[in-house]
Amino acid sequence: MTRYAHIVGWGMSVPRRVLTNGDLAQMVDTSEDWILSRTGIRERHIAEPDQTTASLATDAARQALLLAGLTPLQIDLIIVATSSPEHIFPATACLVQDRLGATHAGAFDLSAACTGFIYALAVATQMIATGGYERALVIGAETLSRIVNWQDRATCVLFGDGAGAFVLQASAQEGGLLAHTMHSDGSGGDLLSLPAGGSRFPTSKETVEKGLHYVSMNGPEVYRFATRVMVSATREVTRKAGIRLRDIDRIVPHQANLRIIEMAAKSLGLPLERFVVNVDRYGNTSTASIPIAVCEAVEAGKIKPGNRIVLVGFGAGLTWGSAMIEWVIAGQGRQAAWWRSGFFLLRILARMRSWLLQAQRRVESFFWRG
Ligand code: ACO
Repeated sequence: MTRYAHIVGWGMSVPRRVLTNGDLAQMVDTSEDWILSRTGIRERHIAEPDQTTASLATDAARQALLLAGLTPLQIDLIIVATSSPEHIFPATACLVQDRLGATHAGAFDLSAACTGFIYALAVATQMIATGGYERALVIGAETLSRIVNWQDRATCVLFGDGAGAFVLQASAQEGGLLAHTMHSDGSGGDLLSLPAGGSRFPTSKETVEKGLHYVSMNGPEVYRFATRVMVSATREVTRKAGIRLRDIDRIVPHQANLRIIEMAAKSLGLPLERFVVNVDRYGNTSTASIPIAVCEAVEAGKIKPGNRIVLVGFGAGLTWGSAMIEWVIAGQGRQAAWWRSGFFLLRILARMRSWLLQAQRRVESFFWRG
């Protein structure tokens, strides 16, 4: 029997603090007009000091679980796609697992830059389709504001913080994620990178002085690459799914630059209205951009049960990919007050469990004499 992976819950979380183009014009040598006309971005959300990639990811995941009517205990797998993890290790996904109290879940991070959410969806779908897993949390989460050089006008105007999450669940009913594509070209790795802090250039006084711990980008080259692959990946996934391009109800592209989305629409011969666009309010939130756009589109009634949607993204690596989704099962939406308070209780229990485990480890190490 074929097993499909359906999206049964979705959620998003963005910091409250908003940074407008006007604010940026006071910080670096730029103008509101330049940013808007070259990128389509008006404002972006920036994490408060106490917010991190894991905290935004956990908030988005809780919303998705609430909507799905599931508890964290029912999740088998957590994948966090991120380009701004809390640490090189442990994985941000493990921190999310602990905060949720998802005690039965395996958890790992996935690094494919802005294409990461699509890669993560593809991996989770395969894990479900082959029968090993029933339910997976797929999260895209970023605090890019922590790795951007706020004195570099060529990059700091582009990015924002946020997180989006899907709950995938196995089903015998046809639908959900029907096809996907994943591509890479490491020969373009230098076009968009965070050079230092890894094993190639371990953090040192010199790397910090040279600013190698910040995002570095060749904007025009990435732009050229993006306009090409957005079109090819969209065509490829429709072919794979056996669905004609004109029968696609919505395309949810990675939100990097409105001009890239407009070029893709033109090349595909589709009206821009068919594309979900919110880059004006969030900027580029990397792995979080596609799930955030999906959440808003569902909320606004732009994605409805029965719709066929294409997700398409590109990013550092270079990577690019796409996913074809038939939006069949709407969220179970168990929003009753008792469910919400039950969920809140689970949150407290997860925190207590984490403390108890840490305390137990300390006691054990005190008595352990190896
Ligand atoms: N304000 C004012 N002027 C600026 C700014 C700014 N914020 N940034 C650059 N400029 C200047 C440049 O210095 C240059 O000046 P010069 O002609 O005197 O040398 C001029 O504007 C033109 O610069 P370009 O880089 O050619 O500008 P372009 O029109 O290509 O736009 C942009 C730049 C917006 C970055 C565009 O190239 C782009 O969107 N590229 C794709 C970036 C992207 O999508 N990155 C994310 C990938 S996903 C991921 O993995 C994170």
